[in-house]
Amino acid sequence: MGDALDNYWYAVATADAIGSDPTRVELRDQGYVIWRTPDGCITAAPDRCSHREARLSDGSVENGCLRCPYHGWSFGDQGQCVDVPSSGPGAAIPPGAHLTALPLDERYGLIWLCPGDPVGPVPAIGVDDDPAFTRLNTRMQTWDCAATRMIDNMLDVAHFPYTHAGTFGREQEQVVPKFSLTQLDDTFYGYEYSIVINNEGDAKTMSGGGGDVIGLDMSTGFALPFSVRSTMSYENGIEQVLFMTAAPMTTGIGVQPPRSMFTFVLWRNDDVSDTGQGIVDFELEVALEDQRMLESLSGELSLQHGALVDVVSDRASVEWRRRFSALIDNSESYVPSAAS
Ligand code: FES
Ligand SMILES: [Fe+2]
Repeated sequence: MGDALDNYWYAVATADAIGSDPTRVELRDQGYVIWRTPDGCITAAPDRCSHREARLSDGSVENGCLRCPYHGWSFGDQGQCVDVPSSGPGAAIPPGAHLTALPLDERYGLIWLCPGDPVGPVPAIGVDDDPAFTRLNTRMQTWDCAATRMIDNMLDVAHFPYTHAGTFGREQEQVVPKFSLTQLDDTFYGYEYSIVINNEGDAKTMSGGGGDVIGLDMSTGFALPFSVRSTMSYENGIEQVLFMTAAPMTTGIGVQPPRSMFTFVLWRNDDVSDTGQGIVDFELEVALEDQRMLESLSGELSLQHGALVDVVSDRASVEWRRRFSALIDNSESYVPSAAS
């Protein structure tokens, strides 16, 4: 049985990871197979053959069709069963043999999957259409933590001086100035702020140079359920858009600890032909600092009123929790605490 979260898009793979071999992805306790035909068509379906429930991701793509490894049934790019070898050529295909193909989108170098009926499109990133910007991708990662905790972290500035002391965090910048929440554009809701960060070593690849301490203007906002966009404007005119997205592999209902997929996409308005890999590597280092912290926390982020202590700098997270709770129709409706 699906729920409200099934009707959203989740980035489950990088586009370049989906080739001629069928790939299994796990999303919210369900396995899905994704395959690409030689003419470039990508299809996703539950990773369970309609015949005896074999994993289709263990099969192969032959003659433009996905072939099950167990008895060789074949499926076309709409999920339709086109061949049951044991019945002989031309035999009728049982109606129940067809797979249900899932809504799929390829955008920003990522494969997006929706297990239900999408309530809207994949989060819109305006600069993706801007020829002044170049896109940089990185691999899909698996983090042993809840997507709810990842979003809380991505919306949070107060952890920079501590969690990110090894990359850009500056211990002198502990106080988070009061900010207001606003609709940043049609997609993202969040806040705008200015920060001072350490700009030493590898950080200079990202900032394009400058002193060892620099200021920049940023905005950070979320799109439900699990995406965050941070924009950075440096004084030298460099602009970077960092899009981070998480997808829960588990539902949090089972006994297993939560596990999530994570990736980010960058857009830059400078020439990244020489620096692109260095910039991605720096952001990977930053992400690893967050990952280490979040993997030391157990379980889901609590959505219950009073379960967490919130302060002023947590306002964006509080608002995300309020909207997320409404989205999943939490029976115990979430009421923000101190952070107003
Ligand atoms: S289980 Fe797939 S063909 Fe039999
Ligand atoms: Fe962080």
